[in-house]
Amino acid sequence: MKVSGETKIIGIFGYPVTHSLSPLFQNAAFEALGLNFVYLPFLVKPEDLKGAVESIKSLNMVGVNVTIPHKKKVLVYLDELSSEAKMMGAVNTICYRDGKLIGYNTDGKGFISSLTKEGKFNPQGKRALILGAGGAAWAISFALIEAGVKRLNIANRTIKKAEILLERLKEFFQDKCEITLIDFDKVNSSIVMNEVDLLINATSVGMHPEDSLLINPELLAPHTFVYDVVYNKKTKLLKAAEDRNLPCLGGLGMLVYQGAYSFEIWTHKKAPLKEMKEVLKEQEKCFVT
Ligand SMILES: NC(=O)c1ccc[n+]([C@@H]2O[C@H](COP(=O)([O-])OP(=O)(O)OC[C@H]3O[C@@H](n4cnc5c(N)ncnc54)[C@H](OP(=O)(O)O)[C@@H]3O)[C@@H](O)[C@H]2O)c1
Repeated sequence: MKVSGETKIIGIFGYPVTHSLSPLFQNAAFEALGLNFVYLPFLVKPEDLKGAVESIKSLNMVGVNVTIPHKKKVLVYLDELSSEAKMMGAVNTICYRDGKLIGYNTDGKGFISSLTKEGKFNPQGKRALILGAGGAAWAISFALIEAGVKRLNIANRTIKKAEILLERLKEFFQDKCEITLIDFDKVNSSIVMNEVDLLINATSVGMHPEDSLLINPELLAPHTFVYDVVYNKKTKLLKAAEDRNLPCLGGLGMLVYQGAYSFEIWTHKKAPLKEMKEVLKEQEKCFVT
């Protein structure tokens, strides 16, 4: 990559941000298409978010990705929101176009693409159980209902957060899907697990080697597809699903697809998925398993 006077700048705002894989595969994508763009990580403290967002305009950047902990707080600094971002109350992609900062959320779409294209799992008419009620769980819950799941069960350690998500989902999808909360300490039962076609770990549990399993793998039903959004390593949950020969996926696919949708918003070009995945595959070899 050669930086010149015409290089266009895209970045990611996060705190922390050093762990992000987005610079790796976004720059690989620009290179693959011969685009004079560069993607940079920006460590943005919560108290500096407003100034950082204003700098997208003042520095004439193309846009940015937004990650933890800014996805919700950033909304108030934007001029327009896509329908997904509005619904989810969270933004992971900002595009600066015609003098306006427009917020999008590509996480849910990225999850569905990974699930259907890589996992060959069609969520239509299925029963899903999602663990978590944070940013990832919000995006995935909305996307799953839009994709036609029949039932969505939500279980989160902090019940209040699950209640807020439930309320918001019901506001948008009153009759489209049966949505219920399950006590976090009651998910480990065969009655619950036998009725799950798709289990999603949308918590951060599994990111660290010392993390214990949230689900007893003995209870996973033979028809269950297991999706773990954690992408920095092969989690214990994923290993347990593999050991039981269950169809399963880790979060790298979701990561690359959400990035591909962001890429397309910024560049108006089809994202070179092959090259983006290839560079991540190299990275995957370095993962601690
Ligand atoms: N693959 C992708 O593209 C992608 C995209 C986004 C996020 N992610 C990954 O998804 C995970 C969650 O991210 P997020 O943005 O949703 O984070 P978040 O908003 O901070 O939410 C974290 C969630 O994890 C739960 N949690 C944390 N520690 C727990 C524990 N010890 N036991 C039970 N639950 C626990 C939290 O429950 P409480 O509410 O009780 O705290 C909350 O539901 C992270 O690993 C992140 O890297 C992946």
